[in-house]
Amino acid sequence: MASEDHLVALVTGAARGIGRACSVRLAEANMSLVLMDIGKDAPEVPYPLGSESQLEHTRRLCVEMGANAETATGDVRNIGDIDEAMRLALQRFGRLDVVVNCAGIVSPSGSSVEEVTSDDWSTMLDINLTGPFQVLSAAARIMKQQGSGSIINIASTAGLVGYRHFAGYVASKHGLVGLTKAAALDLAPHGIRVNAVCPGSVHDAPELEGRMLREVANALDLNGDHEQMFLRDQPSNALVAAEDIAETVAWLASSRSRSVVGSIVTVDGGFTSR
Ligand SMILES: NC(=O)c1ccc[n+]([C@@H]2O[C@H](COP(=O)([O-])OP(=O)(O)OC[C@H]3O[C@@H](n4cnc5c(N)ncnc54)[C@H](O)[C@@H]3O)[C@@H](O)[C@H]2O)c1
Repeated sequence: MASEDHLVALVTGAARGIGRACSVRLAEANMSLVLMDIGKDAPEVPYPLGSESQLEHTRRLCVEMGANAETATGDVRNIGDIDEAMRLALQRFGRLDVVVNCAGIVSPSGSSVEEVTSDDWSTMLDINLTGPFQVLSAAARIMKQQGSGSIINIASTAGLVGYRHFAGYVASKHGLVGLTKAAALDLAPHGIRVNAVCPGSVHDAPELEGRMLREVANALDLNGDHEQMFLRDQPSNALVAAEDIAETVAWLASSRSRSVVGSIVTVDGGFTSR
């Protein structure tokens, strides 16, 4: 690993939400950043995705923390876009130490499994599983030459337990947990650690502009205060804060977690312990 003061990180899904919180936290830890996001809507995803101006806003927040930060607009389904982001990291900062695979979608969802169309299934698996696989493997080829690196996949409690009417999302996140374990075994001998974080229900903080919990509620046609409804299932009596995920990511990115390899770290206020 490079000196802890000069790590270079790539964060996908950085325009808003958990990706923005992770980017700012890594900036605070003195890392240089490449911030990647699709930066526009996708017709096959039934809600607005992060915009280029939101991605630029994340960049400004990182710069305010004193970090070097570049944006890379791109789709994790597109290998050319991923290569471009990797190239930017190498050209601008000379190396790649940390990858946070955070880009993801929660919908199209809301149907019982026998009603899920193959198009909707493919959209979910392409973005939430094939995308992170492509980012991970491109990063691993660079990190192998360096002999070090930390890759952190943002999975979900849906990678550990099932949820009714979310078959595609649950399958994609279980897949990401499996990918984490298998990749960890392949890459550990090369000094590269791969781990996953499984967030529970994360509060959509206005300053982060995230909207995933609202989209879960929309997929389920929940009316009323959806955060209050999700709160009822939380042993801790509190939704998870995006900053709590970011703190875990910062730890996994650093050598403070050097013996943590192939671990699935749950940050869910006790939800999956019930
Ligand atoms: N919010 C929660 O409660 C929660 C819980 C568990 C897991 N997660 C996971 O955390 C991650 C981030 O969630 P969030 O709450 O910040 O959601 P969000 O929708 O607010 O942000 C997701 C970001 O990913 C980007 N993105 C989507 N598809 C992309 C693609 N194909 N290529 C590049 N970028 C793309 C979006 O533009 C957006 O900026 C997701 O992987 C999600 O599954 C979230």
